Amino acid sequence: MERFRVVGGARLQGEVQVVGAKNSALKLMAASLLAAGRTRLTNVPAILDVTIMAELLRRLGCGVDYEPAEGVVEIDVPEQIGHRADYELVRALRASICVLGPLVARCRAADVAVPGGDAIGSRGLDLHAFGLQALGAQVHVHHGYLVAEAPDGLAGADIRLEFPSVGATENVLMASVLARGTTRLTNAAREPEIVDIADFLVELGAKVHGAGTTVIEIEGVDALHPTEHAVVPDRIAAGTWAFGAATTRGDVEVVGGRAEHLSAALELLVDNGTSVHPTDRGFRVTNDGRRPHAFDVATLPYPGFPTDLQPLALAYNAVAEGSAMVTENVFEARFRTVQELARLGADARIDGHHVMVHGNARLSGAPVEASDIRAGAALVIAGLVADGVTTVSGAHHIDRGYARFTDLLQGLGADVTREPDPPPYVS
Ligand code: UD1
Repeated sequence: MERFRVVGGARLQGEVQVVGAKNSALKLMAASLLAAGRTRLTNVPAILDVTIMAELLRRLGCGVDYEPAEGVVEIDVPEQIGHRADYELVRALRASICVLGPLVARCRAADVAVPGGDAIGSRGLDLHAFGLQALGAQVHVHHGYLVAEAPDGLAGADIRLEFPSVGATENVLMASVLARGTTRLTNAAREPEIVDIADFLVELGAKVHGAGTTVIEIEGVDALHPTEHAVVPDRIAAGTWAFGAATTRGDVEVVGGRAEHLSAALELLVDNGTSVHPTDRGFRVTNDGRRPHAFDVATLPYPGFPTDLQPLALAYNAVAEGSAMVTENVFEARFRTVQELARLGADARIDGHHVMVHGNARLSGAPVEASDIRAGAALVIAGLVADGVTTVSGAHHIDRGYARFTDLLQGLGADVTREPDPPPYVS
């Protein structure tokens, strides 16, 4: 186990490259199962989650070549594939649930382990099950597995999601491309990653219209063919660097970042003292030496403020001028960063799904622990605006979502290294 060692004081300055989105790459890998043959994905991030998904696909019978340094994954999908995703892998990668839709579509059956709870809430699967049932599958939980069966194949349907779940939208989308007839999915999630998956499906030969809006229409086809596709840039990584620049009073060009995918977050930064300008290669976030102003923010499905940037907004407000209320509307238990920020001297108090934060000009370095990917990134950024040394345990969480995080931070002038995490005390 390793931890990050952060020496406070540096402003992030320079340029940083953003590559493909984790939350798209994993789903594109799963969607590749829909077409027999060799599919090639580029701009894939070099992260642990991609390695786990590659292993899952291998166990389903695919040949997978993953070159992290090149950002390329090639997946050879045989005519006959397995349909069971084991608990061992699903518990390591909750996003494995996205193989459910493609497997029912291809194999007319899927057994995918139920992932269980994690650090950011219970994360139900009822909407995934509801969507597949509407397409004609029988779905039940058996010995810890979500079992979906459609012996006669899937049939298109009108489906309205109660909540625009990203995962449920993806599973319905991926299942319905091979269903008989037309599917109309209403109250669909609109995230850029959904658009990326829909684009990929169209490249595979699927008929999909309306992705990026609340209504997606899918006309089923008999078979799909492999393709080559570049993963959409990671808006959450880009947002992390934007918050990093603003929080540390720095100046960062986010190369490859798409400002239009981050409008809600960037508008808040701009309204509160940070400059954001488009550049030829992405956008630049500048807060040269000025202390940013606090802002109230509430997370919402896209195009609202992303829940994945909520821990970053907490770290920002912990050192901004003024007070702010941060409201979490997407996940019920996503405030584990608050206790850790308090260890750094942040003045933050949880009240239901709100956090009241009063900004302190500086925090003070301390050992803290990352509970998930984004919490980890937020704590490292907070460590940069704390006096002295902050250690962030649980580096593996950060590795799941950010490729070469220490290298990129060092490239921006931060004194951040990795070191072994001392084993916990056991009496
Ligand atoms: C995805 C992202 C995650 C991001 C989230 C919201 C991946 C791998 N993860 O997660 O980083 O934070 O979108 O933008 O892409 N829900 C149900 N029943 C369901 C499905 C969801 O109650 O069947 C609830 C969840 O518990 C949660 C909320 O809906 O409270 C949002 O979940 P969802 O949009 O499905 O997020 P994920 O796909 O899990």
